[in-house]
Amino acid sequence: MVTTAQEFDVVVIGGGPAGYAAALHGGLAGLNIAVVEQEKVGGTCLHRGCIPAKEFLETASVYRTVAGAKEFGITAEQPLVEFAQSQARKQKVVDQLWRGLQGLLKKRKVQTFAGTGTLGPDHLVTVSDGTQLHGTHVILATGSVPRTIPGFDVDGKLVLTSDEVLSLDKLPSSAVVIGGGAIGCEFASMLADLGTQVTILEALPKILPGCDKDVADVVVRSFKKRGIDIRAGVPVTGHTPSEDGNSTTVQFGDGESVTVEAVVVSVGRRPLSSNLGLEGTAVEVDERGFIKVDDHCRTAEPGVFACGDVIATAQLAHVGFAEGVLAIDQILGDTVVPVDYGKVPWCIYCHPEVAFAGLSEEDAKAAGYQVVVKKDPFGGNGRALILGEPDGLVKVICEKRPDGKAGRILGVHMVGPWVTEQLGQAYLSVNWEATPDEVAHYIQPHPTLSETFGETVLALTGRGLHVG
Ligand code: NAI
Repeated sequence: MVTTAQEFDVVVIGGGPAGYAAALHGGLAGLNIAVVEQEKVGGTCLHRGCIPAKEFLETASVYRTVAGAKEFGITAEQPLVEFAQSQARKQKVVDQLWRGLQGLLKKRKVQTFAGTGTLGPDHLVTVSDGTQLHGTHVILATGSVPRTIPGFDVDGKLVLTSDEVLSLDKLPSSAVVIGGGAIGCEFASMLADLGTQVTILEALPKILPGCDKDVADVVVRSFKKRGIDIRAGVPVTGHTPSEDGNSTTVQFGDGESVTVEAVVVSVGRRPLSSNLGLEGTAVEVDERGFIKVDDHCRTAEPGVFACGDVIATAQLAHVGFAEGVLAIDQILGDTVVPVDYGKVPWCIYCHPEVAFAGLSEEDAKAAGYQVVVKKDPFGGNGRALILGEPDGLVKVICEKRPDGKAGRILGVHMVGPWVTEQLGQAYLSVNWEATPDEVAHYIQPHPTLSETFGETVLALTGRGLHVG
């Protein structure tokens, strides 16, 4: 071991959700922790992902509310977008959270080191300024970066990824969004609501390919109603910028094209492991760049864990939190339960919102389950009508019992108003492996959006008040 290195119980490389959750959790338990971060603690989620994206989606929601105020008997002028102001507000929210996180890390006596950290043999981490840190344990949590596609070099003007979209001062009048996954749908929704003419180009036969079909169909209908052109099942072949450099023509499908002011590439994120060194360690990286771990986030090097987007699990901030905590609990010698990746909560904040946990109907059947399924639309929910947001549904998928009735809840899939805030009890039901009888016993407050979930599970017991 190198004697000049500063000693820590845990050295965390990467201060995003997985890394800072590990640091905060370990710091609270009295561990002496170092975090090495090459940009700002908070990572993609806080600075270039979840938080800024949701802030802009809220801007879009305010726009829709003002534009639709007349229906409620409120006279308001036609709203105008001043995106630079939205950008400033977003930054204020981000900075406030960033200051809070830095304060919290300090309070937990976590030492942060600015620079890129590389891991060498014997748990020795070298920061790019030459500082050496030795950890009894090391956690690798370096995250991910947007993936791009050949022929679409990101220039920040015509071709953007989420990184660039989230720092625009002015929105394009037209845009192609390549990839209709979570990021693509959130951006398409936000841009369209704020006046951009949007075309989504998705290689697979439908957008939101990981979602239950009934749920994705509601999003598709809403997007189409709001003027978003969805082209699914089309390969994107390239683009040709105009001579003045202010627009570009994107080629796709069977010789089709569309000319737009901006192209947003949202075709997934790739792990950021290439800057980690790792020579002389037993840590293994797969062919896609993900660090290989077991179900306890342990790498092949004893005492070295990897968590968050840099491992091949769901690329969600809250999964990173859970993995960071899991690593620390093992370091503390606690009994742990690994993350059950098939049952983690998923939330997509496009309009209408999508939220789910557990198996979709298609996936449950593909896994060999006989299922009993019930759906309840938000159109019959009083609160949804009050909000003027009747589009959407709750769908509950249960394992069929031998008597044909609904048994264990396998999945809950929601689309509609504020479903991301309603997922909690659905997530609990799926992970508790509850039956509809057990869940339907609980009273839902009235009038709330959550009554739709309550009504769906009630219907599965054969005693639905409104749903047959
Ligand atoms: P994604 O993997 O969710 O979706 C990418 C989409 O692009 C897929 O539908 C794929 O079929 C399509 N695609 C890939 N190559 C293509 C091509 N050449 N042409 C056309 N379509 C192509 O990735 P996304 O949306 O970029 O998100 C990255 C990660 O971040 C995901 O794991 C996602 O779950 C996570 N995320 C989660 C959010 C949330 O939960 N609210 C929000 C944003 C991101």
